[in-house]
Amino acid sequence: MNNLIVSPSILSADFSKIVEDVKSIKDANAEWVHLDVMDGVFVPNITFGPKFIKDLRKHSDLYFDAHLMIENPENYIDQFADAGCDGICIHYEATKHIHRAIQMIKAKGKDVGISINPATNVECLLPILGELDQVLIMSVNPGFGGQSFIDFSLKKIEILTEFKEKYGFTYKINCDGGVSDKNIRTLREHGIDVVVTGSAFFGAPDRKEFIKKMYEKGNF
Ligand code: DX5
Ligand code: ZN
Repeated sequence: MNNLIVSPSILSADFSKIVEDVKSIKDANAEWVHLDVMDGVFVPNITFGPKFIKDLRKHSDLYFDAHLMIENPENYIDQFADAGCDGICIHYEATKHIHRAIQMIKAKGKDVGISINPATNVECLLPILGELDQVLIMSVNPGFGGQSFIDFSLKKIEILTEFKEKYGFTYKINCDGGVSDKNIRTLREHGIDVVVTGSAFFGAPDRKEFIKKMYEKGNF
């Protein structure tokens, strides 16, 4: 099994000291930075846009994974790519032309991710799975940090793992919402490659210890 990647979400950071909080991700030995972009339309919350990411880019050399919870993401792909994101993950439910959007992300030379909401089946992704670098399973309803993990997400992870074995797909399976050291072992047993962690990471008394615990429990 490959090594677990932990991707702290800055949604739970303190935006008034964001540079310090982003640096704490590297100091804690996590590898990715998860950037939750929300437009107040696709989800009932608003966060930040490409300018914010572009400014943050100057302060971190970690992998920037943008999770776009915005309607019609194809209208903003160039801006997020030019802001310095390494991966761009859009929602299956947010555009009528998911394949065109995938092509646009690839044309910018970025890793492509597709995310699905809790009520969306993984099977609808079958025609495009071969094109993807990442599938992001929402294990809470998108919009807010600190919610409880929805258990049926495990079944979706299991199906995606089976598809990888059966068809030889190479995407990473990522999971977003309600993840901590309490469920990391189970997630890994179902085949997860990457996990997003917001409130558990930023709320931990010692972030480095928290990441250490995630690796200890997640790599076996
Ligand atoms: C929710 C976001 C998540 C969120 C996860 O819409 O996509 O990335 O920050 O937060 P926790 O880990 O607190 O559930
Ligand atoms: Zn997210």
